Order: sequence, then structure tokens, then C-alpha cells
Amino acid sequence: MADTSATNAFVEFERVQKSYDGENLVVKDLNLSMPKGEFLTMLGPSGSGKTTCLMMLAGFETATHGDIRLDGKSINNIPPHKRGIGMVFQNYALFPHMTVAENLAFPLEVRKIGKSEREEKVKIALDRVQMGDFGGRRPAQLSGGQQQRVALARALVFEPELVLMDEPLGALDKQLRETLQFEITHLAHELGITVVYVTHDQTEALTMSDRVAVFENGRIQQLAPPDLLYEEPENSFVAQFIGENNTLEGVVTEIKGGTCLVQLDGGGLIEAKPINVTRAGERTRVSIRPERVEFNKDRMQEGAHTLKAEVLEFVYMGDIFRTRLRVAGTDNFIIKTRNAPDQVRLKPGQQIEIGWLAEDCRALDA
Ligand SMILES: Nc1ncnc2c1ncn2[C@@H]1O[C@H](COP(=O)(O)OP(=O)(O)O)[C@@H](O)[C@H]1O
Ligand SMILES: [Mg+2]
Repeated sequence: MADTSATNAFVEFERVQKSYDGENLVVKDLNLSMPKGEFLTMLGPSGSGKTTCLMMLAGFETATHGDIRLDGKSINNIPPHKRGIGMVFQNYALFPHMTVAENLAFPLEVRKIGKSEREEKVKIALDRVQMGDFGGRRPAQLSGGQQQRVALARALVFEPELVLMDEPLGALDKQLRETLQFEITHLAHELGITVVYVTHDQTEALTMSDRVAVFENGRIQQLAPPDLLYEEPENSFVAQFIGENNTLEGVVTEIKGGTCLVQLDGGGLIEAKPINVTRAGERTRVSIRPERVEFNKDRMQEGAHTLKAEVLEFVYMGDIFRTRLRVAGTDNFIIKTRNAPDQVRLKPGQQIEIGWLAEDCRALDA
């Protein structure tokens, strides 16, 4: 866990707890420290406490315990309008009776900014999101994507240092979502804004963020850059939640020199990297990514443990082939191979042997 007293922290949660009913903690002992300019995503299933954390940071909810600091100052001592926080929500929250330009001018009026400066800032903010020609329209006259661009412009118009976004693209179709994901990250980095972004969509989290905090049941299970999160999950929850993952259950029979041996419940002995296991006899879930599995003997490492597998299904996906296998008693073992000219297309019923590098195979908590 990062040192929360680090001096360059811009946003800090220190031992924060939250209960709405005085009984159940929906946020449990949360520690988080973000430097200025970071794009951090809170990712987790519905109900895991992401929105609650965002609301506490914005000042709409208070922490039951612990401290939240912004630029070194406890947030409790700063009135909401002086926090300099911009917010974007899933359902736009634009004022329907105001034009786009009036919507953007509003946060500037609240901050007592004069008319000519206001108009200039509104124009810049709208141009930034390619909505310069739409200042005179009302929100109802815009598409979903356009409304969300306006909401983004409104959150940025008063030049906040921190922007909070709660599932801002959740209501949009896939293609538009991907375009806006790209635009939001670019804009954030260009303007040097610090962003806390909330989503339950792991692809969105991986593609947009400098770091991702994976939430489960009010706790951060892992906080890491996207590549580390995907390649080095620290526990079974993260391995399962991020990306596609194969799980084989078994018992650790030996731990030695940075590797361990696992006797699989479905038969077979494999080598793995001990992550969350500490002793022989312990139950484990072994995690292996579909693209790290090899069935081509020429490419297999010498001496690697292999398992027998039966091909159950072959799916052509264009750029990759996705093949489902029966391995060690499970019918849901997936391998992914790149569609290269020399790539083999496996056929249902085929018997093969699969293997992998021990370091790509992680023995995690059962
Ligand atoms: N205003 C509230 N009053 C009571 N319980 C709430 C309130 N807001 C959220 N909760 C509860 O707190 C938990 C976390 O919710 P939330 O922070 O909204 O999660 P997420 O954004 O990850 O889906 C859930 O169990 C939810 O039912
Ligand atoms: Mg939420």
C-alpha cells in the first residue's frame, strides 16, 4: 500500500470508513494516495463502494471515520464551492431549461466571473469537446453523446484541478463510448487535470487509466497500473475480475525457490508461481491467462509440465482464435491464439497437450 503521508499527494484517503446506517461499513479502512495529474479509476462490481468514495471526496457525503485530504488540507475544512472539483455523472445532469451555453456559464456565474470572461471561457470549453456550434441549443435537442460532451465541458469550464466522473459513458453505445474514452483521457492529460473515474467496465478502466483501484465489498483489492493488474493479479478476485482468466483448483504440494507444485483436483501436476500461498497442503486456485497457454510443441519450454486437453469448441474471431478445451476436469478452459498465417485452427474432438511458463501461472488464494 502506498505511503499516504507522501508529501506530493494531491488526493488522499486515510483509513476512511463509511456507514450509512451506523452498522454496516460500505467502505472499509480505505487508503489511497494520488499525485497531481493522475488519472485513477475506481473499478468494481455494483455496490462495492465506488460512488460512496466519490461522494465523500466531492463533499456530498461525510466519512464515518478517517480523513480525506485535497492538496494536503482536510476536505472537511473546505466548503464545497471552494474545492475546485468538477463532476460528471452518468445521466448528464444538464439543466433542461437552459441552453448549452447557459449550462456552461452557470458554474462561472456561481464563481462570480464577469460576463465577457464567462463568454470566452464557455467558447473555449465548447470548442474543446467539438461542440462550438451548439451553444444555442437546449439539451433535449442533442444526442446522448453530445449531451455527455456538454456535461464534460461544463465540468471543465471553471478549470478545476480535480474532476470526478461517475460512470459518465454508461448510457452510450459501444462505439461512442470508445471515442469518448479516448477524448476524455487526452483532454485530461492535455490540461493536466487530476481525475478520479468510476466504472464497472474493466476494459474502460484498463484503457483509460494511469492506475486502477479494484474495489470489492468496500475494500481496495489491488491498486496498480493496468498492465500490472492484468499480468500480476495479487489475488483470485482480481485475477477473475480483470480480463479473461482460466482457473484450475488444487492443493500445493511443495514450495521451493520461487515456484510451487500444485496437484490439481481434476488430475495432473503443474508448476506455478506462489503468490498467495505459503505452505504445502494449502488449497489454491491457479490462474493462467488464455493467451499464455501454448499447444505448439516447438514453442513449448523444455521440461515444462504439460496437461492433456480435448478441444471442445473453436471460435474464429477475426484477429484471434478462441478455443475452448476440457482440461483437468474443467470444460471451460480457454486459449487464445493470434490469427497468423501459420497458426493452427484446432478442431473439436482433437486431443492436444498444453503447457505454459511457470511464471505465467499464478497460485492464488482458494
Ligand atoms: N444514500 C445511501 N443510503 C444507504 N445506503 C447506501 C446509500 N448509497 C449507497 N448505499 C449502499 O452502499 C453500498 C455501496 O454503494 P455505492 O457506493 O453506490 O456502490 P457502487 O458505486 O460501487 O455501485 C451499497 O450496498 C449501497 O446499497
Ligand atoms: Mg455507483
